[in-house]
Amino acid sequence: MTDTYSQAKNAADYIRSRSPLQPKLALILGSGLGDFASQVHDSVVIPYSEIPNFPQSTVAGHSGRLVVGTIGGVPVAVMQGRVHAYEGYSLAQVTFPVRVLGLLGVERMIVTNAAGGINTRYGQGAIVSISDHINLTGSNAAVGANEPRFGVQPGSGQRFFDMTEAYSPALRKLAIAEGGRQGWALDEGVYLAVLGPSYETPAEIRAFRTLGADLVGMSTVHEVIVARHMGIEVLGLSVVTNMAAGVLDQPINHEEVMDIGKRIASQFTGLLVALIPQLGKRSAQEA
Ligand code: HPA
Repeated sequence: MTDTYSQAKNAADYIRSRSPLQPKLALILGSGLGDFASQVHDSVVIPYSEIPNFPQSTVAGHSGRLVVGTIGGVPVAVMQGRVHAYEGYSLAQVTFPVRVLGLLGVERMIVTNAAGGINTRYGQGAIVSISDHINLTGSNAAVGANEPRFGVQPGSGQRFFDMTEAYSPALRKLAIAEGGRQGWALDEGVYLAVLGPSYETPAEIRAFRTLGADLVGMSTVHEVIVARHMGIEVLGLSVVTNMAAGVLDQPINHEEVMDIGKRIASQFTGLLVALIPQLGKRSAQEA
């Protein structure tokens, strides 16, 4: 049982042995956003260390627990923390949890992250719906022999797969409408991913702006690529924890990046708690 598929199946079977719920929706909580997991009712909390083959984060602020339960009556699997390539993990390890969630039967995924704001329209603390991404990490998580058994949704699991609608237009529309209902405008933007762990230089940020990026971060794109390979629909939400390097005349402070999550927690929670029933109750086709 050394191939990734068998390892992922083993992990999914283990999760099923701990919780009888059949989550159709998964959430990945990014840096500083892990507290959202307290919204899960009737939760079964599984430390990553107990799940066969699951990678464990080395970064403060990433708890490393899978929380299975319900939010607004919808069965969900919530990843409280993720691992990053900059920690030294392979992309197979970084995306392993998404493989497992796909095999568990998840059809939709909300991926969240902390990001630097390149677009000066955003303020610190803004929540932004990701409209598309630019992968400048230099690699792709789908590299290697294609494993068609990961194609859990109809038509997925192909060697070459479409990324035109990587961030589901239907789910983005729902999120924007919900932001409006809650009295604020959910902005959209293009997320550019770098390897990290250094923050960018001001010259890099100027270059990324020219390339069409609005947000910069060190996660998400690999998870989204693998999710799309499996046919999982994605909603991506970034929290602008800081303006990107050189935008303001001040250095970037990691503690500040972590604190912003707490400051916007009620807005973030309000949006997700309202969105989850909308994403959970409709079928993947109908949005
Ligand atoms: N750059 C890269 N990743 C980040 C940033 C940033 O400015 N802020 C939060 N994650």
